Amino acid sequence: MRLAVVYSRASLGIQAPLVTVETHLSAGLPGFTIVGLPETAVKESKDRVRSAILNSQFDFPSRRITINLAPADLPKEGGRFDLPIALGILAASQQIPCNALHTYEFVGELALSGKLHAIHGTLPVALASRKANRTLVLPLQNAEEAALPGDNHILAATHLLDVSAHLIQKIPLNSYVRQNPSVTESTAAQLDLAEVKGQMHAKRALEITAAGGHGLLMMGPPGTGKTMLASRLPSILPPLSLDEALEVIAIHSVSRNHQPRLPFGQRPFRAPHHTASASALVGGGSYPRPGEVSLAHNGVLFLDELPEFDRRVLEVLREPLESGTILISRATRQTEFPARFQLVAAMNPCPCGYLGDLKRRCQCTLDQIKRYRSRLSGPLLDRIDMQVEVPALPIETLSFSHTLPEENSDVVLKRVISAVERQHARALKQNARLTNREIQQYCVLEPKTHQFVTQAIEKLGLSARSYHRILKLARTIADLEGSDTVNHEHIIEALSFRKIEQLSGPK
Ligand SMILES: Nc1ncnc2c1ncn2[C@@H]1O[C@H](COP(=O)(O)OP(=O)(O)OP(=O)(O)O)[C@@H](O)[C@H]1O
Ligand SMILES: [Mg+2]
Ligand SMILES: [Zn+2]
Repeated sequence: MRLAVVYSRASLGIQAPLVTVETHLSAGLPGFTIVGLPETAVKESKDRVRSAILNSQFDFPSRRITINLAPADLPKEGGRFDLPIALGILAASQQIPCNALHTYEFVGELALSGKLHAIHGTLPVALASRKANRTLVLPLQNAEEAALPGDNHILAATHLLDVSAHLIQKIPLNSYVRQNPSVTESTAAQLDLAEVKGQMHAKRALEITAAGGHGLLMMGPPGTGKTMLASRLPSILPPLSLDEALEVIAIHSVSRNHQPRLPFGQRPFRAPHHTASASALVGGGSYPRPGEVSLAHNGVLFLDELPEFDRRVLEVLREPLESGTILISRATRQTEFPARFQLVAAMNPCPCGYLGDLKRRCQCTLDQIKRYRSRLSGPLLDRIDMQVEVPALPIETLSFSHTLPEENSDVVLKRVISAVERQHARALKQNARLTNREIQQYCVLEPKTHQFVTQAIEKLGLSARSYHRILKLARTIADLEGSDTVNHEHIIEALSFRKIEQLSGPK
């Protein structure tokens, strides 16, 4: 009777908890059982493992084979356990040596031929195995992502035979080294802010948003450049730190969307369509997958045509906006995903779009406008730091603009980066994330200015929460100017971005 123990890792949120794969061979009628509450996918892996072993010219032991995946209550989906199960069988039947197995962790799905196929959620596995000080063996297709943290001990293989040859010490696998070890991978040419003519107020708002990590709502008639502006925000966002970049990749790694992988070090920019469901936005599924709010973690969630989103869908944003995380509850378990994103949104002022426009008349009735606006709840709007109007431009601005060169994104990005550096030196984070205590500490106002803000808040009918948001905004404005103190002008500019009273609709 033989017992073999092989280590592997499950996928739980963006964690990768350890799974011990125990293989026991005993006398009795030949059979193959996997215990530990495995899902259908794990049961299917029995067939793959058997074929892979046979097709790799090993013996499939005609004994009673019992595999236990422990702990039993972890989600164990997917073929990721094929490789450790196969190795467990080979070790228990003494076809490969057992003694060094405990220094490794294995993940990988097997094809019937014994070839290794990629799995999801590699980066969390790599981070966890590094912490546990074991060597990670995985499919070659997953190696690039697993090696992102840099100093990992990663062995990449393409076939079950490669792994066994390594364990038999016949042909060692080489340590995988990333091809491109820099933090920021070269990114595709981005859209440039200079392509947007005029709209200085909105551009200023965009710069402040980028610098402080604030939320932004742009409102204006059709065709004034709102979508254009928002899609150029990534070109002025500050670079991610290494840890932030790893968090981003870890989330994208466990999600199942097969879009091209986000370049490492790039802030995500997610723009779900307004028909998106609540679960697409916050995440879900029987094995919870991250939704748009998590895929936008450390980056931007852009909701274009904000009032077109289902109101219930918008309400679910309140939790992550407040806490920076999202909890997905299922009957069997709860999974938490990070969801600290900047919310950027765009909308027309009314259903026809032309309310307040100087040239075209709005065709909407008061009732229609009220209904349109009421789709956005006050508490949601209250959580967006800045509102800015994006008015229709005089036609000259668009046509003769070549006489007035617009600023390039690179120039703006330089200012943003130096403002972010000031914030990090002060509080190790961007201003939008300052706590109330930190606001008190870092946004000290002169008595005169303080009195001015409180009066303004009262006059504009803003909430108490607004007070803190205005101070944070003013802090960012001061940082962009390189000023240590927040002064009267900074506060006045910050107030100009709180137009929430207009959004509650015509009285
Ligand atoms: N400020 C601008 N500078 C240069 N081009 C502009 C500007 N505003 C609008 N345009 C042109 O108009 C097109 C529409 O702009 P955009 O889609 O950004 O408008 P929008 O404000 O999002 O409108 P809607 O409310 O209908 O969504 C752009 O593709 C661009 O060609
Ligand atoms: Mg648009
Ligand atoms: Zn209208």
